[in-house]
Amino acid sequence: MSQPVSIAVVGSGYVGLVAAACFAEIGHRVICVDNDETKVKVLREGGVPIHEDYLPELLNRHRENKVEFTSDLRSATQRSQVIFIAVGTPQSKTGSADLSYVDAVASEIARSIDDYKVIVEKSTVPVYTNEWIRRVIERNGVPKELFDIASNPEFLREGTAVVDFLHTDRIVIGAESERAGSLLSTIYEPLTSGAYYRLPQAVPGTCDEKCPPPLLLTSTKAAELIKHASNAFLAMKISFINVVGNICEAVGADVEQVSRGMGMDSRIGPKFLRAGIGYGGSCFPKDVAAFRYVAEQLGVDFSLLKEVEEINEEQKKRFFLKVRSALWTFGGKRIGVLGLSFKGGTDDIRDSPALDIVEQLLREGSNVIAYDPAASERAKEVIPPSRHMSYVDDPYAAAEDADALLILSDWQEFGELDLEKLHYTLRYPIVIDGRNLYDPLQMVERGFTYLSVGRSASHQTRDAALGQRLP
Ligand code: UGA
Repeated sequence: MSQPVSIAVVGSGYVGLVAAACFAEIGHRVICVDNDETKVKVLREGGVPIHEDYLPELLNRHRENKVEFTSDLRSATQRSQVIFIAVGTPQSKTGSADLSYVDAVASEIARSIDDYKVIVEKSTVPVYTNEWIRRVIERNGVPKELFDIASNPEFLREGTAVVDFLHTDRIVIGAESERAGSLLSTIYEPLTSGAYYRLPQAVPGTCDEKCPPPLLLTSTKAAELIKHASNAFLAMKISFINVVGNICEAVGADVEQVSRGMGMDSRIGPKFLRAGIGYGGSCFPKDVAAFRYVAEQLGVDFSLLKEVEEINEEQKKRFFLKVRSALWTFGGKRIGVLGLSFKGGTDDIRDSPALDIVEQLLREGSNVIAYDPAASERAKEVIPPSRHMSYVDDPYAAAEDADALLILSDWQEFGELDLEKLHYTLRYPIVIDGRNLYDPLQMVERGFTYLSVGRSASHQTRDAALGQRLP
C-alpha cells in the first residue's frame, strides 16, 4: 500500500475512534487524542467504549502497533503530519453548532506547531469553520506556510461505522492548497486504489479492488456544505416518507409498498425511505438545526428544514397517540418496550425517539419493562430503574405479562422474534411496532393486534379479542 502518513485524530467519540482505527487499518500510524483521561486509560487497556461492529477487532489488531492513545495533544501534534479534529459540535441554544471544542483544540494545536501540518475538520461543522480555524491558528502566531486547513467530512453511520468508513460511497476532500489535497489523497490511497480490498484480512463490504470508492476534491467550503446538506437531505427524505405514511394510514394503503415503488426510481433511490417514529441520534436533529441556522444567518430562506423538523416532532406524537388508541388508558398498565437506542445496532441514546416515548409512558403512569441489546446501561443514566421502570435481559422478559409490546428501535433481532412464544408471553397479544418490522397480515394470522406506521391497524378477530379481554 502507499506511504504511511503519521496522523493524529483529536476526539475519540464515534467518528474519531472509528476514523483512528480505520486509518490504522489502511496502513497509517495514528495517535488518538482525548482529554478524558479515563477514556484514554480504558482504550489503552483494551476496552472499547462504544458498541460498533468490527471496532474491537480493528483496535486489537492495531493497538500499540499502529494506534496509540494519549491525552497529550501537544506531543501528538508535533509527531503528526496531519491532524484530524473530530471533537463534538453540539447544538447550542440558538440551534447553531457550538464550536467551542473545535476552537479550543485549534488553539492548542497552534501552540504546538513546529513544522508544516495539515489540520483537517472531520467533525460536522458549518460552512466557514475552516476560515475560523485559520484565524485562530494565525492569531497564535503560526506563519501561513506552516499549515493548511482542509475539510474531510465523514459519512459513517453509527452501528455500521467501520464498514461505512472502509466502503464509503465517496471520499470528499476540501482543500485550497495542492500540498494539503495531495497529502490527504495519499491517506486514502489504499482505498481509492483498491489495494486495501485485496488484503486477506480486509473488512468485507460493497467496495472491492475493481470498484473502489471515488475521491472528490472540492473547495473547503463546498466540503463543509456537502456534509450539512447531505444530512439535511436524508432527514428530509425520512420526514417526507413519514408524512406519506400518514396519508397511507388515512386511505388504507401500505407505506412499505409506496416506498418500495418510489425507491425503484433511480433518481429517488430506496434508502432512507423507511417510515417510523421519527429520526433521532446525535447527527440529524442537530445538523438540520445547524444548517437552518447557517441559512438564516446568510439571509437564505430554508424554511423547508423547519418543516422537516416539525414533521419529525409530530411523528413521535402521532405514534404515542397510536399507543393510546390501542390501550385507552395508561395508568398502571404494564408495557414492554423493545429498543432504547435511537436506532438498531448502536448503544447511542442521544436524541432517541424511543426514550422520549418511554418517558411519556412513565409520565402517564405506566410501568415500563424495557429491553435493548446494547443501550440499557446508557439509558439507566437517563431513566434510572425504579418501581415503574425496569430493564431486562431478553425480549420475552420485556413482554412477560405485558398489556402491550412496543417496538421502538430496529434491531435485527426484534424482527426475528418467536411469535408463538411472544403470543403466550404477553398478557394481551398487542404489538405496536414503530419500525414496521413485521407483516401486518402475518401478525393477524398469528393472533396479534398489530399496529405499525403508515399501514392500517390489523386486529385479531373480534371473537378472539373479546374472548381474551372480557372476563
Ligand atoms: C447519520 C448519517 O446517515 C451519516 O451519513 C452521517 O455520517 C452521520 O449521521 C453523522 O453525521 O455523523 P446516524 O445518525 O448514525 O448517521 O444514523 P442513521 O442511520 O442515518 O439514522 C438516523 C436516524 O434516522 C435514526 O433515528 C433512524 O432510525 C432514522 N431513520 C433512518 C429512519 O427513521 N428511516 C430511515 O429510512 C433511515
